[in-house]
Amino acid sequence: MSGGRLILGVETSCDETAVAVVRDGRQILSSSVASQIETHSPYGGVVPELAGRKHLENLVTVLQSALRKSAVKPSDLDAVAITSSPGLLGALLVGTTFAKSLSMGWSLPLIEVNHLYAHALSIFLDNRRPRFPFLALVASGGHSSLFEVLSPRELNQIGRTRDDAPGEVMDKIAKFLGLGYPGGPVIDRLAAQGDPEAIAFPRGLQRDPSFDFSFSGLKTSVVNHVLGSGAIGGRLADHQAPPLEKTALRDLAASFQEAVVDSLVSKTLRAARDRGFRTVVVSGGVAANSRLRKKMADQGRSEGIRALFPSPRLCTDNAAMIAGAAYHLLKSGEFSDYSFRPSPRMKTG
Ligand code: KG4
Ligand code: ZN
Repeated sequence: MSGGRLILGVETSCDETAVAVVRDGRQILSSSVASQIETHSPYGGVVPELAGRKHLENLVTVLQSALRKSAVKPSDLDAVAITSSPGLLGALLVGTTFAKSLSMGWSLPLIEVNHLYAHALSIFLDNRRPRFPFLALVASGGHSSLFEVLSPRELNQIGRTRDDAPGEVMDKIAKFLGLGYPGGPVIDRLAAQGDPEAIAFPRGLQRDPSFDFSFSGLKTSVVNHVLGSGAIGGRLADHQAPPLEKTALRDLAASFQEAVVDSLVSKTLRAARDRGFRTVVVSGGVAANSRLRKKMADQGRSEGIRALFPSPRLCTDNAAMIAGAAYHLLKSGEFSDYSFRPSPRMKTG
């Protein structure tokens, strides 16, 4: 295999077991992902213990698939990269132990990658090259964070969700409506045929001067709308919507999705205006949402702000983004020893 620096990326922070080989932080030679949707869907959300166990079962097969598809041998590689934070602790432990073993066995440097930074930089794998600095929104099942991306290695978080993440709310509401898991793609599809203005749901923290997000009030509103005002007491998981008529369900999905999208678009564009950014990059699983892609692009354009989205397969969790982000650390020789521990919370060092 000639030319370029080759990095093998490993990702196990949530419910995708993924391994990829990337050349020079840009060219994806292979990106294998084993989804655990079938494992978690009966529960309507990710079960941490099951996620860790599934990673353990799947990692070797996913590794073999990524090496085969890329036609790269371990001896061709320049480094092994691994997500070390944030994520589910048990899931991260399986991946970091695996990656440490590969690095040791193959005598390759090991590079720790922050999962959110990798989402924010995933746009470079699509051959888009926004100039630094830019603003990045990472919206997923576990996070919604706004970063000033000053360079590939300097990301400054200026906003985050105060409660649920947008994908998490999509998943919970879909479960409540009996639509299955994961909820985002189903709601996206249903909403396309509904009226986004049918029901006026709240947009959290819109008048708050911070760049933080909040989605839990919206979640309560949707449940109260369906079950009758004041219905929600205790946990959302204890409630189930009665079967809804097709049009009512589509309108509900469209109005709910519109509230999520509006919250994300308005805060992100306000942050861009206030901080003087002309380019906004949106990534993470929720960035696959068709309405979010359209509204951020249209509204951004009307304000002279360019919105960039990675292709949908790079929005959801994958290991190519881990290898991509690691390339910048490889160039500056920022390797890890084997003493680091994964962290469920945001670790920025
Ligand atoms: O980035 P990701 O794969 O994993 C995390 O790091 O969380 O994001 C998964 C989340 C799930 O909550 C899923 O429902 C949501 O992304 N998602 C979507 C869409 N596709 C996936 N949400 C809205 N619209 C979509 N099309
Ligand atoms: Zn993610």
